[in-house]
Order: sequence, then structure tokens, then C-alpha cells
Amino acid sequence: MTIRPATAQDIPAITAIYNEVVANSNAVWTEKQDSEADRLAWMQARQALGYPVLVAVDDTTVLGYGTFGDFRAWPGYRYSVEHSVYIGKDYRGRGLGRLIVEELVTAATALGKHVLIAGIDGSNEASLRLHAQMGFVEVARMPEIGRKFGRWLDLVFMQRMLDAPGAARAD
Ligand SMILES: CC(C)(COP(=O)(O)OP(=O)(O)OC[C@H]1O[C@@H](n2cnc3c(N)ncnc32)[C@H](O)[C@@H]1OP(=O)(O)O)[C@@H](O)C(=O)NCCC(=O)NCCS
Repeated sequence: MTIRPATAQDIPAITAIYNEVVANSNAVWTEKQDSEADRLAWMQARQALGYPVLVAVDDTTVLGYGTFGDFRAWPGYRYSVEHSVYIGKDYRGRGLGRLIVEELVTAATALGKHVLIAGIDGSNEASLRLHAQMGFVEVARMPEIGRKFGRWLDLVFMQRMLDAPGAARAD
């Protein structure tokens, strides 16, 4: 298994993983299935900003992927990024989610980011536990701010500092 930057050839697998998560969970708050063209445009937009889209691959099979992007658009948020991680349904529980998030931590640190943020559905025990184990701390829990499959959804924000609190930056 290796983790490497995603390419256009990975888009069919990334799209399939994403659409399965959309269809069967509250991890992404949409019920809309994406086309491969949608996902390609999304990936290229991320990469154009200098942000990574990483895939975990076994030979030629894409097992999962992860990425991060700006937390919010205002310039004052430029040292904070929000990540996401998706493992194919047949490959969960094998440590891949943890490995991808570790790579995202390394990449965000290398870009000089200060805080990495996870926005997690309040019922997503696997993701909440994964992030807690990796040093992310719950900083906000927002009841019923989302809706999917006819139910209200809670959002939990967890964050991990990537360097020391108060660390200097040459603004
Ligand atoms: C959440 C997700 C990324 C976790 O990735 P994974 O590869 O399955 O998880 P790992 O094998 O790396 O497990 C790491 C830790 O996560 C937690 N975890 C993983 N699966 C779990 C589950 N089913 N129930 C509870 N905790 C779980 C555990 O703390 C685990 O550590 P442990 O094995 O020492 O107990 C994966 O299940 C997934 O892609 N789910 C669908 C999409 C999603 O929810 N993405 C996250 C959006 S915020």
C-alpha cells in the first residue's frame, strides 16, 4: 500500500468511493451523486490552490483518499485548513484512515498551516474516534444545523494544532 498524489486516472475510483459515502452515510451533507467530471473539476481546483489530494493505493486499486482545503475564504483564516478522508467501504478498519490523516498532517505542516480542522457529523463514531485518537480535540458541537435523509444533523468541529500555540508567522 502506498499513499501518493491523485491523478486524473484515479477519478473513477474516487468518484465511486465518494458516491457510496453520499448514498449510505451522513458523512457528506448532500444526497447528490457526483459525475466523474464533477470530481475531476473538484480535484483540479484543489490542486490549483497548491493543496494535496492523496490516494491510498494497493497496486492499481484506489482504497481511499483524503484532502484538505481552506477552512473559510476570508484571508484571516489562511493558516487553517479543513480536511476530509474517505475509505472505500471494503477497506475500512485496516488503519488506512489513520495513515491518510497522518499524511495530511504532514502536508499541512509543510505548507506552514497552523491548525487542521475536521468537520464531522455528530453520529459518525468512527471518524470522531479516529480523530480523537490522533490528537484532534472537540472545539464545537452545533446541534441540528444540517439535514439529510429527513433528519436533523449535528456538526462537530475537532481541531489539531500543527505547531505550538501562539507560533510566529511572517504575515
Ligand atoms: C471514518 C473513516 C475515514 C475511518 O477510516 P478507517 O480506515 O476505517 O479507520 P482506521 O482503520 O484507520 O481506524 C483508526 C481508528 O478510527 C476509529 N474507528 C475506525 N472505524 C471505527 C468504527 N467502525 N467504529 C468506531 N471506531 C472506529 C478507531 O478509533 C480506530 O482505531 P483502533 O483501530 O485503534 O480502534 C472510514 O470509516 C470512512 O471512510 N468512513 C466513511 C466516510 C467518512 O465517514 N469519512 C469521514 C468524514 S469526517
